[in-house]
Amino acid sequence: MHENQHHKIRTILIDWYNINKRELPWRQTADPYKIWVSEIILQQTRVNQGFDYYLRFVERFPDIKSLAESDEQEVLKYWQGLGYYSRARNLHKAARIIQNNFNGVFPSNYDDIISLPGIGEYTASAVSSFAFNLPYATVDGNIFRVLSRLTSKDIPIDTTVGKRFFREIAQQLLDKKAPGLHNQAIMEFGALQCTPKSPNCSECPLSLYCEAYKLNLVELLPIKQGKTKVSNRYFNYLFIKNGDSTYLQKRTGKDIWKNLYELPLIETKEAVELENLLKSKEFVRMFDGVEINIDGNGTKKKHILSHRIIYASFYTININAENEYLANFLKIPISELKSYPISRLTEIFLEEKFTNV
Ligand code: ADE
Repeated sequence: MHENQHHKIRTILIDWYNINKRELPWRQTADPYKIWVSEIILQQTRVNQGFDYYLRFVERFPDIKSLAESDEQEVLKYWQGLGYYSRARNLHKAARIIQNNFNGVFPSNYDDIISLPGIGEYTASAVSSFAFNLPYATVDGNIFRVLSRLTSKDIPIDTTVGKRFFREIAQQLLDKKAPGLHNQAIMEFGALQCTPKSPNCSECPLSLYCEAYKLNLVELLPIKQGKTKVSNRYFNYLFIKNGDSTYLQKRTGKDIWKNLYELPLIETKEAVELENLLKSKEFVRMFDGVEINIDGNGTKKKHILSHRIIYASFYTININAENEYLANFLKIPISELKSYPISRLTEIFLEEKFTNV
């Protein structure tokens, strides 16, 4: 993006903000103390939830002095239910530092602000720009999203490289004459217009400048490296006992368990109880013409992997005869089970079943 494009984007953002902004209490004040409190609350809390907490907090602790002179326990009480209580402890600690080291006056430069406990790059930029109009670009989750779409860059925003990249773009885009207004505007634009899901691009004033819009990539951005979506799978494992033997199969397919062995498996789309499993096509086919005897109600296990949760049920099934279908599995003596590589999930089940397997 070039400077004249930056200029147009800034103007559009400010015009959009003036029409669409929400009236929020921390936007009606220039008091750095109150702006700081609001930003700490909003770090891990949504605006709707943070709203009342903010009002109660600044009513009870209207300035640095009142916060510094209070007990930590009372501050925590006012934080009750918000979570991440280190935020409250740091607010209190920082208020005492300001009281003692800065004569009770909130510091007005970035380096002093970021030196306070609980204040990182985002909060220091927010307070510096909102309260003192200093030229520091804020980059929160909303702004990462707006910038990754405008540039259509697929650098993951949760990596050091990605953070640095988008912070630099944010700093270039920043309106140095009105940094506070600009930061509020782009943040609000991300929250209300450039939403994570189904953004209304056909009515977006920036669509003309949005590379992701041109390439039809809006919903795919931003990219995150760490957080793959967690999905659930439902595995029904069958420990089939035929005399001293049991059955295994080798897992094929491209997953983390590829080439491990496992008990015969019936995977279902959702959790099913034994009664319904017995009626399923796969189960009926597996034991066609074979008399079965099931021990108990099965054992349930929840197995958590990085992007998958496996809900497993293990059933022990006794048989005396074999059909064609079962003959396709690998039949082994139960005593040899431990010589086959199996998943930890199956291992746990077997360990519990035979303490010496
Ligand atoms: N989230 C973080 N800071 C905010 C602010 N100043 N206004 C609205 N949402 C926010």
